[in-house]
Amino acid sequence: MDTQGNGTGAQALRPHAEDAFAHELKALSAADDRPRPPRWKLSPWAVATYLLGGTLADGTAVTPKYVGPRRIVEVAVSTLATDRALLLLGVPGTAKTWVSEHLAAAVSGDSTLLVQGTAGTPEEAVRYGWDYARLLARGPGREALVPSPVMRAMAEGATVRVEELTRIPADVQDALITILSEKTLPIPELGQEVQAVRGFNLIATANDRDRGVNDLSSALRRRFNTVVLPLPATADAEVDIVARRVDQLGRTLDLPPAPDALAEIRRVVTVFRELREGVTGDGRTRVKTPSGTLSTAEAISVVTHGLALAAHFGDGVLRPSDVAAGILGAVVRDPAADRVVWQEYLEAVVRERDGWQDFYRACREVAP
Ligand SMILES: Nc1ncnc2c1ncn2[C@@H]1O[C@H](COP(=O)(O)OP(=O)(O)OP(=O)(O)O)[C@@H](O)[C@H]1O
Ligand SMILES: [Mg+2]
Repeated sequence: MDTQGNGTGAQALRPHAEDAFAHELKALSAADDRPRPPRWKLSPWAVATYLLGGTLADGTAVTPKYVGPRRIVEVAVSTLATDRALLLLGVPGTAKTWVSEHLAAAVSGDSTLLVQGTAGTPEEAVRYGWDYARLLARGPGREALVPSPVMRAMAEGATVRVEELTRIPADVQDALITILSEKTLPIPELGQEVQAVRGFNLIATANDRDRGVNDLSSALRRRFNTVVLPLPATADAEVDIVARRVDQLGRTLDLPPAPDALAEIRRVVTVFRELREGVTGDGRTRVKTPSGTLSTAEAISVVTHGLALAAHFGDGVLRPSDVAAGILGAVVRDPAADRVVWQEYLEAVVRERDGWQDFYRACREVAP
């Protein structure tokens, strides 16, 4: 993949997974002596190890990308080795996109074959389009055809990703049914077809909360194995995820490392989990739930933003005042209703909690 496509030789702000973790993928490929399905860069075992992390025989440490039940990853990876496509389902911020990118990178060495699903996704994004200048100059032919990422994946025997499948209009979704069941993409204009090469598969992601926007037809759903990505089971697991991702993001953004950030990370995660679940961690106090999702992904951005504040305007140590504004912004989405939820939580829970006085004051200062 040409990562210098910007022509300046500058570093990408967000490198593709296969570039960011190229050394791990290389070490895994070298260590991997298990059978690989056609066109796979790694065996299913090595793909799962890439996602879940581990230490290889040569001592290479593979960082965990997904923190969660091992079985989920095993089911996802083995699905890709069959003729069924994979649907990653879950509430916002449960790493659906993240997992699909890493799966494509590990299986096919390329995570860039991507269709972004929106209400305006046209059929060309799933099938093919035409380069009209060529079409007019030379008439219909394969040179004038602009393949979609799906068509390219079929021809190359690679993994294609479809983001936010349920947002795509129903008629465009229907185009996927033929592709997934026949493994063929007809081009009636040319009297030709593209047949999928072995190794082709598709990973779609969909958001629980969007369900109903364009509910999947049962015909399409039957073409998929569905894997539901859960919210982190425990606060410790969630703290672990946030700490890891914040550390990675901080390095890409050149933020100085913040060694004592863990206490504030735990606080952000605690607040998010309590508000999400509607009850305090000790189970004693019921609290109201705000309208936003308060996902792990949002906790990651609150902490990353806090670190930027601490680095540029503070003394480099993450303090309650650096996360307070971010938390408030994440919780209060609906200015009327969520403000009440937050005020009640602040007075009933934060104010009374041992060691949370600084945080309480910081929250009062930024109160809307
Ligand atoms: N269990 C987890 N393990 C590792 N990272 C996680 C986990 N849960 C969330 N994350 C992190 O959360 C961030 C957001 O994840 P991602 O964008 O993939 O969510 P999503 O499920 O696609 O959300 P949306 O429905 O909004 O598209 C990523 O940086 C990812 O690393
Ligand atoms: Mg996503």
